[in-house]
Amino acid sequence: MVKRGEPFLSPAQHRQRGEEWARQERAFLSVNRHFPYTNERLSSEINDGHNIDFIGEVIPSLIKRVREQERSQRKIKILDLGCGLGFYTDELRTAFPDDAVVYGTTLMRADAALERKELIEAIGRGEHPLAQSHRFDGFSPNMHPNDGKWHTVAELGDVPEFDLMIDTQGELSYAFTAGHLPEAITQASQKLRPNGDLYISFLDHHARAVLADMQPYLQEHYHVTVSLHPNVHTNSQSYVLHRHSVVTLPSQLTLPPALSEPTAP
Ligand SMILES: C[S@@+](CC[C@H](N)C(=O)[O-])C[C@H]1O[C@@H](n2cnc3c(N)ncnc32)[C@H](O)[C@@H]1O
Repeated sequence: MVKRGEPFLSPAQHRQRGEEWARQERAFLSVNRHFPYTNERLSSEINDGHNIDFIGEVIPSLIKRVREQERSQRKIKILDLGCGLGFYTDELRTAFPDDAVVYGTTLMRADAALERKELIEAIGRGEHPLAQSHRFDGFSPNMHPNDGKWHTVAELGDVPEFDLMIDTQGELSYAFTAGHLPEAITQASQKLRPNGDLYISFLDHHARAVLADMQPYLQEHYHVTVSLHPNVHTNSQSYVLHRHSVVTLPSQLTLPPALSEPTAP
């Protein structure tokens, strides 16, 4: 039982689970080292995977809301769940250098960092097919320290802190394969600030059934509702989990009759 503010997994549990998940990912990558980093995937932007305009719409309106409703100049906090090589996080940092602070989780940071370094250097030397792509202009060969700061959301505590979480074929699709999707969805929901949103793309239909089953639980415990956003490019749908800010309590608390009516002597 997790107490308020504690990490979702104890260090020992986390070590064991992290090793298990990393083994699964490594076994998968050993047959297809660069999956899913096809050139098409690498050249795509964060908006493409969801068919949602994070850069032009979602994030600017989030920043505006925080400024107006909270009367605060604070930076919004974004978490990319399963950020891989950190290209989407870099894209967000480049687009909102003053208004957002961006973090990413990834299981095998050292491998991701090496793969990123080799790739960006090859692009820089003109040796990679993506050398002409402007997407990588200004991207450092080094991973940002905020990327892979945690292996998974399970390493964090249950304090709501992120205004926006984005999962693009990241933690949650892999969590489904590894058999821990309900836990991961619950943990991610707990990390959302009230009014915060979690966008998930690339859940297959089996995983979607798990999410559908979880809806009443998420709503009751975390005031999180689930909706669908059609994605015309991938012919699939992105899920949007919204954590509501207002907790609706019954207008009047009624006591059970035995207690409210004093019994006559
Ligand atoms: C395919 S990469 C996705 C990278 C990036 N979002 C993209 O679309 O290019 C999958 C990410 O999920 C993470 N991951 C893999 N298995 C996981 C698991 N069982 N639990 C949590 N995260 C996992 C990996 O470390 C990696 O960061």
